[in-house]
Amino acid sequence: MRCWNDSFLSAKLLTGCILVISFFLSCNNPFLPTAPKYKIGFSQCTGGDNWRKAMLQEMQRELAFHPEITFEMLDAEGNSSKQAEQIQQLVDSKVDILIVSPNEAEPITPVVEKAFSKGIPVITIDRRITSSRYNAYIGADNYEIGKTAGSYVADLLNGKGKILEIWGLPGSSPAVDRHNGFQDALRTFPEIEIVASVNGDWEKEIAEKALPEVLVRYPEIDIIFGHNDIMVLGAYGVCKKMGREDNIRFIGVDGLAGPGGGIEMVNEGILDATFLYSTGGEDAIRVAINILENQPYQKENILVTTAIDPSNVRIMKQQTDKILSQQKDIQRQKEMIGQQLEIYKNQRTILYVMGFSLIFVLVLGGLALYSMREKQAANRVLADKNQEIILQRNQIMEMAEKARNATEEKFRFFTNISHEFRTPLTLILGPVEELLETDYSKENIKHQLGLIRRNSIRLLYLVEQLMDFRKIENGKMRVQATENDLSRFIKDIYQAFEFPAQKRVIDFRLVGAEKPMIVWFDKNMLDKVLFNLLSNAFKFTNDHGFIYIRIQENRPHNQVLISVEDNGRGMAPEQVSRVFERFYQGESYSTSGTGLGLSLSRELIHLHKGSIGVESEDLKGTRFFIFLPLGNSHFGKEEIGQKDNNYVTMEYTGQYIENEKLAYLTEENKPEKETSVLIIEDNLELMGFLNQALARDYHILEATDGRKGLEVARESIPDLIICDVMLPEINGLRVVSYLKSDLYTSHIPIVLLTAQDTEKQSVVGLEIGADSYIIKPFNLNFLKATLKSLLKNREILRERFISEISMDIPVSTENRLDKKFISQFVAAVENNLSNPELNVQDICEQIGMSRIQVYRKVKALMGYSVGDYIKHARLKKAEFLLTENVLSISEIAYQVGFNSPAYFSTAFKSAYNLSPTEFKLQKNTTTD
Ligand code: FRU
Repeated sequence: MRCWNDSFLSAKLLTGCILVISFFLSCNNPFLPTAPKYKIGFSQCTGGDNWRKAMLQEMQRELAFHPEITFEMLDAEGNSSKQAEQIQQLVDSKVDILIVSPNEAEPITPVVEKAFSKGIPVITIDRRITSSRYNAYIGADNYEIGKTAGSYVADLLNGKGKILEIWGLPGSSPAVDRHNGFQDALRTFPEIEIVASVNGDWEKEIAEKALPEVLVRYPEIDIIFGHNDIMVLGAYGVCKKMGREDNIRFIGVDGLAGPGGGIEMVNEGILDATFLYSTGGEDAIRVAINILENQPYQKENILVTTAIDPSNVRIMKQQTDKILSQQKDIQRQKEMIGQQLEIYKNQRTILYVMGFSLIFVLVLGGLALYSMREKQAANRVLADKNQEIILQRNQIMEMAEKARNATEEKFRFFTNISHEFRTPLTLILGPVEELLETDYSKENIKHQLGLIRRNSIRLLYLVEQLMDFRKIENGKMRVQATENDLSRFIKDIYQAFEFPAQKRVIDFRLVGAEKPMIVWFDKNMLDKVLFNLLSNAFKFTNDHGFIYIRIQENRPHNQVLISVEDNGRGMAPEQVSRVFERFYQGESYSTSGTGLGLSLSRELIHLHKGSIGVESEDLKGTRFFIFLPLGNSHFGKEEIGQKDNNYVTMEYTGQYIENEKLAYLTEENKPEKETSVLIIEDNLELMGFLNQALARDYHILEATDGRKGLEVARESIPDLIICDVMLPEINGLRVVSYLKSDLYTSHIPIVLLTAQDTEKQSVVGLEIGADSYIIKPFNLNFLKATLKSLLKNREILRERFISEISMDIPVSTENRLDKKFISQFVAAVENNLSNPELNVQDICEQIGMSRIQVYRKVKALMGYSVGDYIKHARLKKAEFLLTENVLSISEIAYQVGFNSPAYFSTAFKSAYNLSPTEFKLQKNTTTD
């Protein structure tokens, strides 16, 4: 929803921006040149003089307010036929209106008429054509100008005088009209005479050329009247040259403002008067626009005129100068506006660019926002998926972990069960071999057969457990419940355990079984359960502990409670929570049992619709409890069995238990032997068997778990150790590893005894330093041979040490620690050999070990007592020195630590059967 809102907002923003920019760009700007609407064509007869230039300036000033109009001027340069051509040219270029200032009326009229008849509006300015086929005329009344000038001259001359007239182009209308007006005004003054006329064609130079001759011809000229100011200026110049300028009055037409214009000439006294003749440029454009815009206009637009002479020239000059300066201002402002427009145009272009860029950026931004939203949404989906995958992966890993654990538990189970099989098999095969090979007393045979029987039963029991396990796995285990007296049933089981309890001084009680208690149950199954609980209790309860069985009827709840409580080893909470799991073997079960017993028990109780539970505290004890429902309504028809059907378990249960723990207890101590063997074995029966088999040859030491094994080994430093791999407390592999890395015990050969026969296991055992590895079931003779061989090897090694030491060759031994010890010991002896007082204590101090440890270690590794070794070393050194033949015999005697040469000789002789002298002699002879 939020995403949609954001997109909507950005779309609105974008549209808004576009609208604002479009609005701004599309606004009408009064300062901007609009597209050309009209074209004005202007045909100028001549463009060179100031008056024409002023006309054009006026036109352009006016046009400046009309940017919609384009303007084209063609200059005919005083050539009428050229002008006619140019007019046609303008017509052809499709001007909307034509302004014509004809050079001469006659030659120009046809082409103007043609344009007019074509529908092009025509304005004539200043000069006229001979036709009336035009739209408007702009100009002053030239006849009137001529007439006013005539009257003014008449006044000046007081009615009498001679006049020279300078004509404009005779074919042009102003020349004709001005002449006519002038002549008409003078008609009433008979004494005023135009004595001569000169044609100046409106131009100064032409007038200048023609005048000198006429002036010479007429020496009494009073006034020169020219049709325009510039021709009169030319006449003034000519007169000046002739020295006649003061005698002649000069009168002109135009009265142009500004420098060089007629007004200035009057002001400077060159002209006596001039008659204003406006150019009409401004008016012509205004009228043209009115025509084009279809606005009302006049056909005849007559411009005002006035005489300018010394009486008004100053004010005229001031005014015209002011106008000119204002016109200049206007021009400047126009230019500035032009510049501003240019700036504006540039800014507008920039604005366009920026506007479009902004739109572009906004569009891109919108797209980016949109794609970002899309991406976020996609990311969210991906994150969810990822989470799901992680969850699934974790579940899979959890399942895999469970499967792995289950597999591991199974492997362990099969390993243990094979161990369980191997021990009884060893105990069956061993006595059988013994019986076959040896002549035993009847008592011994009975003992061996007892062993065979018990272990066969144990195997049977294990097989039975496996079968039950299979049946439960396949759902084929079925209760065959019969109505029984539970008190009686449990009492029988209780009695089977009484004997071992007595022997081990365990307070073993049955509480609550005084009166009969009728309960429906499968005797075979409940027997297995109770046997399992009791055998566990006996296994983990120490001598002098207690084991209580209680039975209790709970009528209100319609059930019976059976509990087995002990004050044995107990279990840690983690073990308590898993103790009924199939294949689970806690610490207490690590060396015995299959891990099936309690799991099996629980299944069997569940088949009875009952429940089984446990309470236990580490090192304090354990209490198992079973609830069984009363009556038989909870059993199906097929679960009700025949009375005492197939109840067989009791036949062997008691015997097995009775003997398992006790077999060992009855073993008598064997007499001391020279070579000691430590057996570390938790299976007491196997321990008993080994003890009996080896006791004849060796002094046997025993330990029933790894920890005790280590203690006995360190205390007694036995000559050999037989150690089981699967041991309580500390397992056999770790026991070997500890012993081999301990200086005191590192030299003792160790035989590992195990049920695990995988190659890997053997390699591990040997790698950590075990000297041999025997797999159960083993052949007793093989075991005995192995022990003999190891002890013999130790003997050989010892001899090698001695010989190596005596020859000063570095000792090579299997064990790094032994090697270190020997070199330390040998060095201590060697360094002090000349000291006759050298004793064990000195050496112990030097190598930092106790006397007894050094004594045992030296004895075990070298076969000597320390004292014997010192003596041996003295004699060996003496032997070396004698062979060297450098020192005298008595010197050698002191050198190797004998108090007197005589004692040295005696000692040497008893060891070598030769006196030192004889030995020296023999050696040196042989060497020589
Ligand atoms: C300029 C001019 C003016 C005169 C006008 C008549 O070319 O000669 O001096 O007044 O033309 O058309």
